[in-house]
Order: sequence, then C-alpha cells, then structure tokens
Amino acid sequence: MTQPAVSHHLSHDISPEFAAAVRAGLCKQPQKELPSKYLYDEVGSALFEVITALPEYGVTRSEERLLAEHASDIVAQLPHDAIVAELGSGSGRKTRRILEALCKKRPTTYSPIEISRTALQLCRRELGDIERISIVGYERDYLAGLAEVSKRRAKDEPLLVLFLGSTIGNFGRLAATRFLRDIRNMLAPGDALLLGTDLEKPVPVLISAYDDPIGVTAAFNLNLLARINRELDGDFPLDAFEHVARFNPDVRSIEMHLRAKRRVSARVRAAKLTVELQEGETIWTESSHKYRAEELHAIADDANFTCSHQWIERDWGFAESLLVAR
Ligand code: AVI
Repeated sequence: MTQPAVSHHLSHDISPEFAAAVRAGLCKQPQKELPSKYLYDEVGSALFEVITALPEYGVTRSEERLLAEHASDIVAQLPHDAIVAELGSGSGRKTRRILEALCKKRPTTYSPIEISRTALQLCRRELGDIERISIVGYERDYLAGLAEVSKRRAKDEPLLVLFLGSTIGNFGRLAATRFLRDIRNMLAPGDALLLGTDLEKPVPVLISAYDDPIGVTAAFNLNLLARINRELDGDFPLDAFEHVARFNPDVRSIEMHLRAKRRVSARVRAAKLTVELQEGETIWTESSHKYRAEELHAIADDANFTCSHQWIERDWGFAESLLVAR
C-alpha cells in the first residue's frame, strides 16, 4: 500500500526579527548564543509549564507558597487603590493570591502584559472568575505595555507593577538594573514594584533543577533548535546536540547550553546562514541569575527605588521584594 505523503513541517510566517537574532547570535565569537526569549513558542511554553511541576525545580512552588502565606500582609503594604500591571503574566496562577486579597478590599483593575496572545487568553481564563476584578490585557512587550498602562491611568491613581517568577534572573546583572531603571522611569513616586527573585543555593541543587533526570529541561532547550528548523527552514540535526546546565560562579548564574556531540554543519535558509560547530562547542541559550536577599536593597537603590519590605521562603530559597518608587 502506498503511504500518503505526510509533511511534518508546520507552516509559519517567517519572522524577520527571529531570523536576524538567530543570524547575529550564531555568528558571535568565541561563544555562539541564542536569545532565551525564543525558548517560549507554543511547545516551549508548554514544556516550561511542565518544568514548574518537576520535583527538582522548586522555584515556582516556592513563590506560590510565599504568596499564599503572605498575600494579606503583602497587600497591606501596597499603595492604596492601586491599579495592577503584571509583566509576563504566564498562566496567572501565582498572581491569583495577590489579586484575591486586593479584590476583597475593593474592585481592582488588573492589566497583564504579554507578547503572546495565547498567554493573555489563558490568564483571563485563569483569573476572570475573581470577584470585583476587571482585566484589561495588553499584547505588547513589557516596557511598551507598561508605558501604555501608565499613560492611561487616572490622575493620581497609583500603580503596582508585578514582576514575579524570577524572570529578572534571565537578564544579565547590568541589564537587570537597566530594566529596573526603565520601569522606574514610567512610575510616579509612591508607585511600587513587587519583584520575585530566586535565591542562591548549593550548586548541585541548581544543576538538578536545570538538568532534571527525565529530560524535560533538555527538551525545552533543544526545542529552540527544533523551532529554528520549523520556522526558519533550518536543518539542525537534533540528535547531534545535548543539553548542558552549568553554574557560572563569576556572575552567580546557572547557564543552559546546547553542546554539539560531533562536528555539525547546519543551514538556516531564512536567516541566510550556514553555521559550523566543532565537537564539544556550545550554543549558550539562557542564564538564570541567583540573588542574595540583602543585595536587592542596593539594586533597588541604584534604580531609584527603596526596598521597603521583603518576604522570604526559606525551604527552597525565594524572595519577594517590595520596591517603592522614590
Ligand atoms: C522563566 N525563568 C524564570 C526560568 C528560570 O528558572 O530561569 C526559565 C527556566 N529555564 C530552565 N528552567 C526554567
């Protein structure tokens, strides 16, 4: 019997921005790299959700415990009658605790800011049942979305920005401070930022959190090459790469890389690129910086905020810091 021809390729519009980033990153010397934001297509986002359920990855559960336990205390410290904007809402699960505590006191407007429409829809589904909430989502990148929320608010209406999940850890240390300054420049004195950061912990704990034994994080990382193959007409042989997680003590970050197990030559047609990797060479795909709770005071200061309160979960090691705009 003749088999029908089956195409395994999904059709996608080619994103010129993605193509340019892949080209620039894979031409970098001596370390090839790819920006971590491209880990999160539909497949990558679904794999990340699975990562958050892994016993070895304590980050999300630790923050959820922290928010569940301290929601009413956190809310008591927030500016009164603030509207709430969240950078990168994800599924919205951890934010529920804060929003429920706020809405118990008064009706609250919540603006999730996400580049992904699917994530915004998920968030609305997850949080839309909270009594007295109105959700106004923004399909934008973080800073453009925040500018819009800030511009549209009523005069003298305070703003609370949520940046949870330790996403700040995926920025380099300098870039993180620069980003906090950019946020601060859109705020008025008295506005606040609730910032979640994963804390330093022993290296073996970090390694198993980012290189789990059933290979979900490996699949999450490898999906980036698979995505390039799908969306940019690439031909990376996925079986020639392995996931590597390593700790960089100089900047206190856990780095994910994709290591070539043999010599590889791959074409990425939509990026007009042929890339060669030697055996053992890596592509750096993500850094996840770990913080000390004390250093957040200085970081806040640097960006013209005051760190007024901190809540710390010590079982895993996670901090929620309240930064108030000066
Ligand atoms: C989204 N971000 C905070 C995660 C982290 O822990 O840095 C992404 C991640 N990468 C591998 N596992 C989780």
